Amino acid sequence: MKIISISNNKGGVGKTTTTVNVAAAMNILKKKVLVIDMDHQAQSTYHLGVNPNKVKDSVFEVLKGEKSYKDIIIRTKGIELLPSSPDLKGIEFIPLPAKEFLLKEALEDLDGYDYVLIDCPPSLGVLTLNALAISDYIIVPLQVQFLPFHGMYNLFEAVQMVKKRINRNIEISGIIATMYSSNKSINREVVEETEKRLPGKLFNTLIRENVSLQEAPSWGKTIFEYKPDSNGAEDYMALTEEIISRFS
Ligand SMILES: Nc1ncnc2c1ncn2[C@@H]1O[C@H](COP(=O)(O)OP(=O)(O)OP(=O)(O)O)[C@@H](O)[C@H]1O
Ligand SMILES: [Mg+2]
Repeated sequence: MKIISISNNKGGVGKTTTTVNVAAAMNILKKKVLVIDMDHQAQSTYHLGVNPNKVKDSVFEVLKGEKSYKDIIIRTKGIELLPSSPDLKGIEFIPLPAKEFLLKEALEDLDGYDYVLIDCPPSLGVLTLNALAISDYIIVPLQVQFLPFHGMYNLFEAVQMVKKRINRNIEISGIIATMYSSNKSINREVVEETEKRLPGKLFNTLIRENVSLQEAPSWGKTIFEYKPDSNGAEDYMALTEEIISRFS
């Protein structure tokens, strides 16, 4: 079982789009997948066709130790989902010690999946630390629209801190270029610069800018349900095959 956090402290870079569509592609490739939605915006829950406002218990109850994850998991589209709900942000304010290990403790006996994908919120707060504490790999989606290296270094520094104090085995295992458009020179520059500064990290598959990827979530559909012939579906399938071979 490989546990992968999809994380970037910057918002709107494609974390949720990547989590949901990689999970869907893995399911098509006959892998058993669990998605954990660790973002109180609950967008991957919604994207997977589950209304977060109608979810009775979420990962919040699991973190608080009030419910077993086994009673919370929802099966949707052939994928298993540990859903989020808006009240998840309350975890920041609960006075508990060692809060970065709540997920790890709650999922101690988790077994039987090929891949667990964790959709992280756009911050380096307690929810992201919980995700990183339990992960084997971190994948960072990087929007290639402008040179974002300053933000990236914050993330690298945070991962170094996590490595020292929380999870010795963690490192940034891959970077995904998202919302790529080959006719924009800035996109090509960011990809070249990333390859130069962080050799070997970038996945070969570039996720192209694709309007179907943008439309699919509002229908509660993955790209493979919504537009299986789109560039978005083609790119996420190619990326997933790459992830599986890189992390095997
Ligand atoms: N390849 C793409 N082409 C076009 N639009 C995209 C692409 N990937 C993501 N988007 C759109 O960009 C927006 C942000 O994507 P997404 O929600 O996946 O980012 P995020 O990093 O999870 O954001 P947040 O930090 O708020 O959780 C969404 O509207 C999404 O539909
Ligand atoms: Mg998101």
